Amino acid sequence: MVDIGIAIAFAPRSHVMKATALLTTALTLWAFAAVAGPTSGDAVRGAAVFKAQCAACHFAKETDKSPPIGPQLLGVVGRKAGTWDHFAYTPAMKKAGHVWNAALLDQYLENPYALVPGAAMGLLVPSPAHRADLIAYLSSNPAELKQPERAAP
Ligand code: HEC
Repeated sequence: MVDIGIAIAFAPRSHVMKATALLTTALTLWAFAAVAGPTSGDAVRGAAVFKAQCAACHFAKETDKSPPIGPQLLGVVGRKAGTWDHFAYTPAMKKAGHVWNAALLDQYLENPYALVPGAAMGLLVPSPAHRADLIAYLSSNPAELKQPERAAP
C-alpha cells in the first residue's frame, strides 16, 4: 500500500517534470529559430547570393546605368514599394502601399505573388538562409541613392 501511495504521489510530479522539460525544449528551439530568423543574415554571403540570383535583373549599388529588367534595389529597405522613379512597375506593385522592411522582404522573396498579387517578378527564394543573407546585404546598403539619369534615346 505504501508503495502504491508513493507511486501515485510521484506520478503527477513526473508528468509535470516531463511537461516542463518539453516546454523548455520547445522554448529553446523557438528562441533559436528567432535568433536564426530573418535578422541574422550575413551581408557578405548575401552579396554573393544577390550576384547569383538577382543581378540578372537588379542592381543594388551606385551606378549610372539603369538596371537590366527590375528596379534599382540600392536603398530599397525603408523605401515605399513601387516607387523607384525610373521603373515602370506593375499596377499591383504601385498600389502595394507598404514600406520595405526585413519582414516584408522575407515574405516577398519567399513568394512575391502572396505578398503582392499581380507582381511581375518570376523568382522565389525558398531558402530562409538565402533570404536572411539577401536582406542583410540589402539592409547594409545606404538608403540614399543618386537616381541615375536615363541615357538619351
Ligand atoms: C527575372 C528578373 C528578376 C529577378 C531574377 C529578380 N527580380 Fe526582383 N523584381 C523584378 C521586377 C520586374 C520587379 C518589379 C515588379 C513589379 O513591378 O510588379 C521586381 C521587384 C523587386 C522588389 C520590389 C522593389 C521596389 O522598388 O518596390 C524587390 C525588393 C526585389 N525585386 C528583390 C529581388 C531580389 C532580392 C532578387 C534576387 C533574389 C530578385 N528581386 C530577383 C525582376 C526580377
